[in-house]
Amino acid sequence: MANGLDDVVAADTVLSDVDGVGGHLTIRGHSLAELAGRWRYTQVVRLLFDGFFDDLPRDAELEKAIGKARLEVFDRVKPLLAQLAPLDIYSGMRAGMAVLPDGDGLADALRLIAAPAVLTPALLRLGRGETPIAPDAKADHAGDMLRMLAGAASPALAKALDSYLVTVCDHGLNASTFATRVVASTQAGLTSAILAGLGALKGPLHGGAPGPVIEMLDAIEASGDATAWLSNEIAHGERIMGFGHRIYRVRDPRADALKAVVRQLGSRNETGSRLAFAETVEQAALDVLRIAKPQRSIQTNVEFYTALLLEAVGFPKEAFSNVFAAGRVAGWVAHAREQQATGRLIRPQSRYVGPVPDLVA
Ligand code: CMC
Repeated sequence: MANGLDDVVAADTVLSDVDGVGGHLTIRGHSLAELAGRWRYTQVVRLLFDGFFDDLPRDAELEKAIGKARLEVFDRVKPLLAQLAPLDIYSGMRAGMAVLPDGDGLADALRLIAAPAVLTPALLRLGRGETPIAPDAKADHAGDMLRMLAGAASPALAKALDSYLVTVCDHGLNASTFATRVVASTQAGLTSAILAGLGALKGPLHGGAPGPVIEMLDAIEASGDATAWLSNEIAHGERIMGFGHRIYRVRDPRADALKAVVRQLGSRNETGSRLAFAETVEQAALDVLRIAKPQRSIQTNVEFYTALLLEAVGFPKEAFSNVFAAGRVAGWVAHAREQQATGRLIRPQSRYVGPVPDLVA
């Protein structure tokens, strides 16, 4: 039996397809290249939600509805923020989302879209001893997230963050989406299902990788020798964060989509020199991995350039997984609705390999 469910097909979906050999990601009939940098996050939310909610408004109205949902979430969580702030930033966000109503309607879905975008900046500000900034319902989603973080958002950084949210909005039956669908299959509400997704996303083998990518870049910069540093990690049985994937045997297409966004943020500034350094580390890592693991094609994954992009737009590394959740929540909600609509409980079997009880005569 494959203990990681490799190659097992556990759902039919119209939402996204990951071609790990060709290196293509399709999101509801659109290639990633068509969407990244061209569609806004709100448009992609609409694309994913279409057909799963009866009362889904057009793009402009949906943008306003998400803005109102940000305000509503802020009002609901405001009294709790002081208690959540001492937790690590991901746990604080998860706990804040756990108090949202657990229904199946569009209002429930929009609160869940809004919640990571509201809770993350509010908790970061409290952690820095600053007062949280209330959402502006009229602002665009990514721009408002940065405004709530720093008091103002440059259009270029807001566009970069929006492109990131679009790029990570859905990705086949990854671990967090599967966890979401398992809970949704019990006909529990959307909040319960999304909390399962949040739990699965946190781990370093899934959405927890980009923070450690920054730590790796900093450590390599301090060491002055990328190849020696990376080889030493491999020799000690460590994994190189931002590389390898269960499905992709070629370069993750999201890596290049995000790298292009980072490049647009400038070549002569701090981001530009960070990018140039990251490119040399990436090449060294690919060379080290090719020699150390010749049996496996280990390529750059989404998390490597996620780290650079989120650092450039102003998030600290401990909040990177929160921002991943802020994008992926759209896919989770759509998958939860798709699974609920099947009416079929996900209930696989385990094979018992434990001790057998003594037979009583
Ligand atoms: N660094 C070093 N070795 C690796 C890596 C890596 N990043 N990835 C895989 N390997 C090795 C692994 O040690 C194993 O070697 P051996 O056969 O000698 O024991 C071999 O490759 C096969 O590993 P596996 O665990 O069977 O492969 P998997 O399909 O389960 O791996 C992965 C997928 C993402 C868990 C893994 O590549 C990994 O741990 N990467 C680092 C963490 C990371 O970047 N995670 C983000 C994933 S992308 C975001 C997302 O969509 O969730």
